[in-house]
Amino acid sequence: MDITATLNHLGVTLQEYTGPDLIVRSPIDGAPMAALRCHTRAEVEASIAHAVEAFLVWRDVPAPQRGTLVRLFGEALRAGKEPLARLVTLENGKILEEARGEVQEMIDMCDFAVGLSRQLYGLTIASERPDHRLQETWLPLGPIGVITAFNFPVAVWSWNAALALVCGDPVVWKPSEKTPLTALACQAIFARTCAHYTQSTGQALPAGLLYVLVGDATLGDWLVTDPRLPLISATGSCRMGRIVAPKVAARLGRSLLELGGNNGVIVSDQADLGVALPAILFGAVGTCGQRCTTIRRVIAHRRIYDALLERLRTAYHHIAAQSIGNPLEAGTLVGPLIDRAAFAAMQHALDAARHQGGTVFFGARVLDATYPHAYYVTPALVQVPTQVDIARAETFAPILYVIPYTTLDEAISIHNAVPQGLSSAIFTTDLREAEYFQRRSDCGIVNVNIGTSGAEIGGAFGGEKDTGGGREAGADAWKAYMRRQTSTTYYGTAPPALAQGIRFEVR
Ligand code: UN1
Repeated sequence: MDITATLNHLGVTLQEYTGPDLIVRSPIDGAPMAALRCHTRAEVEASIAHAVEAFLVWRDVPAPQRGTLVRLFGEALRAGKEPLARLVTLENGKILEEARGEVQEMIDMCDFAVGLSRQLYGLTIASERPDHRLQETWLPLGPIGVITAFNFPVAVWSWNAALALVCGDPVVWKPSEKTPLTALACQAIFARTCAHYTQSTGQALPAGLLYVLVGDATLGDWLVTDPRLPLISATGSCRMGRIVAPKVAARLGRSLLELGGNNGVIVSDQADLGVALPAILFGAVGTCGQRCTTIRRVIAHRRIYDALLERLRTAYHHIAAQSIGNPLEAGTLVGPLIDRAAFAAMQHALDAARHQGGTVFFGARVLDATYPHAYYVTPALVQVPTQVDIARAETFAPILYVIPYTTLDEAISIHNAVPQGLSSAIFTTDLREAEYFQRRSDCGIVNVNIGTSGAEIGGAFGGEKDTGGGREAGADAWKAYMRRQTSTTYYGTAPPALAQGIRFEVR
């Protein structure tokens, strides 16, 4: 394992982070890659205080200049794409091809934010009074607390950070304790970018635009309850969201939540199965089922149910036979689960599925002789007669429930009968079915003839119901990172008129 070389390549020196608190293991073989210390309460306090100081300077730098910093960061990511992707694979276990995609998503997000840095538009509104100008302006908000999950260890942070930085906000980031190294790598790249910015523009930057804080849920709690962080953007399970949201609300802060998904696709009897099948395979087994957008349920028309299930079984058989393995190796399509707990949760769900009347195909642990401390599985297919209880829960592993339907309304009611509402899709060549489903899906994302995962950063990303309601990336996500201010200016000479036609004359 070439962790040292990869970290060196990225300019990460671990000395100052070394300690006994956190052993970072690669899911590829379970071997320890680093031993880190967690940040103390005092360090967290100091970091937030410095971020507040940085904010007081950064908010007055013109937004297009802030965009220049993000442009340089995007360029640094382009230059460091390969080693950063490698580190993502080493630490998270997703295949290198997908890790490159994740870094590309960061680069795209930087490009997008640079453009936005010249488009943080307010409004000029027609005033009801003569000689008045009424307008709305967007102003920087303050340091943003960002809490991210292991499964997209760097892209989701970049959705937040690229926008926050152009909006004038420093970022205080708590990465998942399963993936702190990729976060430290981003910090190192960002620090070099800041130096490059100063060199090339001659402008000094405030220190403290980005803090990476290593720790567990306790550290997360310090951020969540700190009133100096006006916005907490948190990605993780619905369970985590239920803890975070009330704590932020209790201090009347804002939260932006990206929580669990339980994404379903409807496969109509009018579907082109040649289009549906590869899309379902990427969505269901890609990233070893560890995307919040992973396809977890296929709701298939009874007329094509058996044929689709058969084709899926054949494809899953091929995947099991030849595509599972070390995610660094070309040809691998499915890497390991993140850890033993993920494996246990998967087996628990499959047992529940069997008890609830499902027939389980595949889903066992493999490669345990080669990798006794890592958890590789064959993705599981579960044939169920109806949407059983376990299919309503998000299990963060490659399990695909295949559920039959007869009418489109029935399919849609099965589809919507889960607590989560992130992403959805229909496969059909019938325009009417597609349009109907688009209006009826209760998710934040609805696709036609493509899977539920792999969204582009140009569209708003997020979901409804237990998914938390937040939106990141996309046209107006930047507004979450700014405060909105309405102002009215009177430039006439007569005594100013009152709104609503009120007269108030003091004689
Ligand atoms: C996540 O799984 O938390 O749409 C994010 C996608 C990716 C992002 C997933 N662009 O699958």
